[in-house]
Amino acid sequence: MNKRPSLPGRRRTLFVMGLAGLVAAGAVAQGGPTVWDGVFNAEQAERGREIYATTCALCHGPALGGVESAPPLTGDQFNANWSGTTIADLAERIRISMPVDKPGTLSRPQLAAVVAYILKVDGFPAGTAALDPQLVTSSPVKIISNKPE
Ligand code: HEC
Repeated sequence: MNKRPSLPGRRRTLFVMGLAGLVAAGAVAQGGPTVWDGVFNAEQAERGREIYATTCALCHGPALGGVESAPPLTGDQFNANWSGTTIADLAERIRISMPVDKPGTLSRPQLAAVVAYILKVDGFPAGTAALDPQLVTSSPVKIISNKPE
């Protein structure tokens, strides 16, 4: 077996360190993807609106404002609860517990669409690609209520 040619040790170390530095700088500058980056699209949010209306609105209110013990899914209280978490946290919370009377009944595409709709109503921008139904409960995208500078 041929040994793969490699850079001399010191140069290689510097190269790796430089690469790590670049990655770290990028992470600090951008802080990873957020809900301000257009992480769902308009069609998906529209499907979510229909699912919300038939599956969630009875308890959470037609405009997501909350009713009695069902908390609002938009606005200050929602943002206080969810800002700083991720789409995965929100989607997983919904997946395991909602609707309260029939948890676990949403399909993955329905779940992703409802999350897209909630994000849209909360004022986050649509983009071109839909939120991936298979990845929604592991999505690292940060929910941040105020737009990053
Ligand atoms: C039968 C009434 C009912 C239905 C239907 C329902 N919810 Fe809820 N939901 C609640 C109640 C009550 C709570 C608070 C108690 C709890 O978490 O179990 C809640 C909590 C939540 C929370 C947590 C909010 C927070 O900030 O803590 C989310 C998110 C949520 N619901 C989303 C949904 C979605 C999306 C649907 C439709 C797929 C839905 N719910 C359907 C009653 C309901």
